[in-house]
Amino acid sequence: MKNPVAQVEPECQPRPGGSLDPSDWRALRAQGHRMLDDMFDFVEHIRERPVWRPIPDGVRARFHAAVPTTPTDLAAVHDEFMRYILPYATGNTHPGFMGWVHGGGNVAGMLAEMLAAGLNANLGGRDHVPIEVERQITHWLRQLFGFPGSASGLFVTGTSMANLLGVLVARTGALGVDVRRKGVAPSRKQLIAYTSEAAHGCIAQAMDISGLGIDALRVIAINHRHQIDCDALARAIAEDRSAGLAPFLVVGTAGTVDIGAIDDLAALAAIAQREELWFHVDGAFGALAILAPDLAPRLAGIAQADSIALDFHKWAQVPYDAGFILVRDGVLHQSTFAAPAAYLRRETRGLAAGSPWPCDFGPDLSRGFRALKTWFTLKVYGTDALGAVISHTCALARHLESRILATPELELLAPVELNIVCFRYRGDDADRLNARIVADLQESGVCAPSTTRIGDDLAIRAAIVNHRTERRDVDALLDAVLACGGAVASSCAA
Ligand SMILES: Cc1ncc(COP(=O)(O)O)c(C=O)c1O
Repeated sequence: MKNPVAQVEPECQPRPGGSLDPSDWRALRAQGHRMLDDMFDFVEHIRERPVWRPIPDGVRARFHAAVPTTPTDLAAVHDEFMRYILPYATGNTHPGFMGWVHGGGNVAGMLAEMLAAGLNANLGGRDHVPIEVERQITHWLRQLFGFPGSASGLFVTGTSMANLLGVLVARTGALGVDVRRKGVAPSRKQLIAYTSEAAHGCIAQAMDISGLGIDALRVIAINHRHQIDCDALARAIAEDRSAGLAPFLVVGTAGTVDIGAIDDLAALAAIAQREELWFHVDGAFGALAILAPDLAPRLAGIAQADSIALDFHKWAQVPYDAGFILVRDGVLHQSTFAAPAAYLRRETRGLAAGSPWPCDFGPDLSRGFRALKTWFTLKVYGTDALGAVISHTCALARHLESRILATPELELLAPVELNIVCFRYRGDDADRLNARIVADLQESGVCAPSTTRIGDDLAIRAAIVNHRTERRDVDALLDAVLACGGAVASSCAA
């Protein structure tokens, strides 16, 4: 990589007291091209870098420095980025990153982020084409999920936020818009929601934040494939009704966070319809399996959902962050959040036209242009290629599964439903052994799986999400687990 410090261009600095634009645009342009080239180098040569490396104390300490009151040249700040930020990032652009459920990003999305930052559009409202881009993505999702033209959509940070919005719209559906002024207490209905043991923790958090309370979430047992037990769900609803409570929401998951299980969404849709419940799908990563022809049939029933939460920044590889909520009843969605204000007055012409605005569909008024990097990603690659990436990550997971099953030292801890494999190295004190293996692997820079618990056991969890991950990376993970597990086990025995 180039050393930008050798080419410091003080002309990139603005004139004192004036605009923040540079005094010398040519110098800025040259510096900007160096910054762009560095990021191309970073992505092009990502395999040559460690996946992740521990942060040295001296590097961490640099970020405790006082607020800068005087200028620093752009090239010098860029140099700091190259030396002290870039090498110590999460690592999820790397093909060896298999921890949690992180997308790998993509270069078209990266460039679109730069364009969006240059445009500096605020997508809270007003009449401009960036909002049309976001509306186009809503339209594309309506098509993909078979939602009607009246369905609404909104970019948010991630699925945690999208699930919260889904719970809030469902709450309005159950209690009416008055709940916004009076809160939940006056209705005297105790609203009850249902999800499975395998659901993400943000569902409980959404119940908490929405004022309904975590105890009003019934956590239903799962079957051997980690899908919600629909009989147990029906029994729980009946018990709550006979106790005088008010069931209002069922949350199904398309791609559980631990193992990637997909609930029987058609069965959940039928229960929700029969019981008159709001049917929300947490499809953080799994909903976009709709793009993969071999996986899409497993989402049968998602078209009946009242709302779907998903992330473009996971399986669709859009750079962080790009969460999304799609709501079948756009009017109810709007009535959950829209709040008139004099300073947000709408007109039929001029810049204040184009109502309703995105700020009418969520709590954010200032909103960035997340839609652009998503739009670029979808257009540049097309949904067929993204679907092929999604299928490929599942094929890699099956390859890993078959190697684990053929290796006596290893034990598969959960069925491989999509792209996530949970397993462990057999041994005494297996939880400690496997936690140590995972930390050692992360620190080695070779690969970065994470851990979770499957029943009572701590599992090594490999979530294969990144489009750059290949069979050799999965093999490298397995070989590293075996080498590390063997070394740790023999050091404990010694
Ligand atoms: C099933 C599920 N729901 C919700 C989330 C939270 O999504 P986010 O991290 O985008 O808020 C995740 C994250 O991995 C997830 O897997």
